[in-house]
Amino acid sequence: MFRTHTCGELNLEHQNLEVTLAGWVQTIRKFGAITFVDLRDRYGITQLLFGESLQAQLDQQPLGREFVLQAKGTVQERSNKNLHIPTGAIEIIVSSFEILNSSVVPPFTIQDDTDGGDDLRMKYRYLDLRRNAVKKNIELRYAVNRSARTYLHEQGFMDIETPFLIKSTPEGARDFVVPSRMNPGEFYALPQSPQTFKQLLMVSGYDRYYQIVKCFRDEDLRADRQPEFTQIDCEMSFVEQEDILNMFEGLVKRVFADVKGINYAETVQRMSWEDAMWTYGNDKPDIRFGMTITNLKYPQHTFPNRANLATLIQEAGFKVFDDAESVLAIAVPNAAEYSRKQTDELTDWVKRPQIGMQGMAFIKCLPEGFKSSIDKFYSAEKLAAIAEACDAKTGDLILILAGKEERTRKAISELRLEMGKRLGLRKENEFKLLWVLDFPLFEYDSDENRWVARHHPFTSPKPSDIPTMIDNSPKIENADKYLEHPYAQIKANAYDLVLNGNEIGGGSIRIYQRALQEKMFEALGMDQEEQAHKFGFLLGAFEYGAPPHGGIAFGFDRLCAILGGSESIRDFIAFPKNNSGRDVMLDAPASIDEKQFKELHIQLKKES
Ligand code: AMO
Repeated sequence: MFRTHTCGELNLEHQNLEVTLAGWVQTIRKFGAITFVDLRDRYGITQLLFGESLQAQLDQQPLGREFVLQAKGTVQERSNKNLHIPTGAIEIIVSSFEILNSSVVPPFTIQDDTDGGDDLRMKYRYLDLRRNAVKKNIELRYAVNRSARTYLHEQGFMDIETPFLIKSTPEGARDFVVPSRMNPGEFYALPQSPQTFKQLLMVSGYDRYYQIVKCFRDEDLRADRQPEFTQIDCEMSFVEQEDILNMFEGLVKRVFADVKGINYAETVQRMSWEDAMWTYGNDKPDIRFGMTITNLKYPQHTFPNRANLATLIQEAGFKVFDDAESVLAIAVPNAAEYSRKQTDELTDWVKRPQIGMQGMAFIKCLPEGFKSSIDKFYSAEKLAAIAEACDAKTGDLILILAGKEERTRKAISELRLEMGKRLGLRKENEFKLLWVLDFPLFEYDSDENRWVARHHPFTSPKPSDIPTMIDNSPKIENADKYLEHPYAQIKANAYDLVLNGNEIGGGSIRIYQRALQEKMFEALGMDQEEQAHKFGFLLGAFEYGAPPHGGIAFGFDRLCAILGGSESIRDFIAFPKNNSGRDVMLDAPASIDEKQFKELHIQLKKES
């Protein structure tokens, strides 16, 4: 037997027990005639004591960091206890040992606080994975996986695998393609999600499907995006939006309970997309804190039903506000005492290229009155009215950005998050879920002067909007007035689940009638021929008794990362890609042999 126990389980209850351990040498400390070794495995660290009788063998077979060692010995109470680890009260008095394998000196020490930097960690990911900090994340990922599977199994969901070598599924990114040797000149696409397959499974009658599944998207990478990532993908038949929301907030609450011990008793808050955009400036608001946005000027046309506060700022002779498409403000609590240096620094922050504003105005709501960068233009009464509109209290600092609508909205939303972070309002141990509902079904693509699906082309409009979609032509006659087209007002029967400002899942009730699906494809600019070529299988399936259905997919990596207190998903994936989509350990992607090109009937074009 290689080992009787792991390195994480022995304690004072095992005193005098004869044990055999196996693991990796973490540290070696020599004190005269005795040597201490910390032996590490997946479960923990146990201290080994090599007495005088073993020193000759140790001299002959010196140990080194990361050697694989088997040691036999007796468990004994330790005089110098380490109360920070479960095995810290004992040590093993080694009677014999064997080096099972040696190790060259690792490129970084396998410790919590030394990782050698990102590049080295990724190149030697198998060593990085030995580190506690990373192991903890991989364990958490498995716990989330187990918890989700248990819940879904209990709810009658069935795990059904779907193929990876498929035809393109439109989820808005580029496809990864795979050439077919047996079908020269033809290519498979890797699935961006199993979307069409799960819908076909509903047509087949498997009314509760799930899969924890890899998805592949060739898109620009960010901290929360990988080219191959994992979804908890689900679909149900005979459901309405309400059924899906209930079922899947149940899933996330279960994961919270199982993995974090959190009892998330409250009902998950809901917000319309329009409210989210209006009050938080983006469609995935972090609702752990307020500091909501006040629109000091009625923006162009996007939000027809909102209060027009333009009178508060207009025609005061301040050209920046007068000429701006949008003027947006937040009231930062208890920040009125910010110094000149601090407000200058914030102004520089919003001027960074990533934020892209020209400048920032502020109003300090001090006990003695308002102090503002714009008080040349605005009287004390006007400033008071602005403060009131922003719901600012004495002691608050109002920050105002002005410019093009979309950019200003994005910028104020980033500024809000930044201020939330600086003020410690985005607490790591607080988890706030939010359903965002009632998205527009379409977005306007100005480059191609046509509609694109905001979610994907299989998402159904709200039942009440179906006639609008059927009865109107999708054609956009006047690009400048696309917002006046009836399609701009159609809402999707779709929902996103947001956790602490991150979109962790999204889904929709689907179209299940052929005619409506064809209308959708037509709206997206696909003629009959293209529809038949790309989605003939789905349109065909809808003619054989497709049930009403809907579903959702969670970003499994994102969910894990947020539960683990990080916004970067890389550390929750055993073998991730770097920011350029490379696996630096494998050195992939890489060129292939001439022979492989031949077999695939592919010739590389020479770069000129
Ligand atoms: P969607 O495209 O919204 O929906 O994806 C669902 C969730 O997957 C996560 N996600 C990603 N995670 C890591 N890296 C990526 N590149 C990445 N892209 C998306 C997000 C997102 O919320 N088929 C539909 C679902 C449905 O309609 O049922 C779909 O894939 O957390």
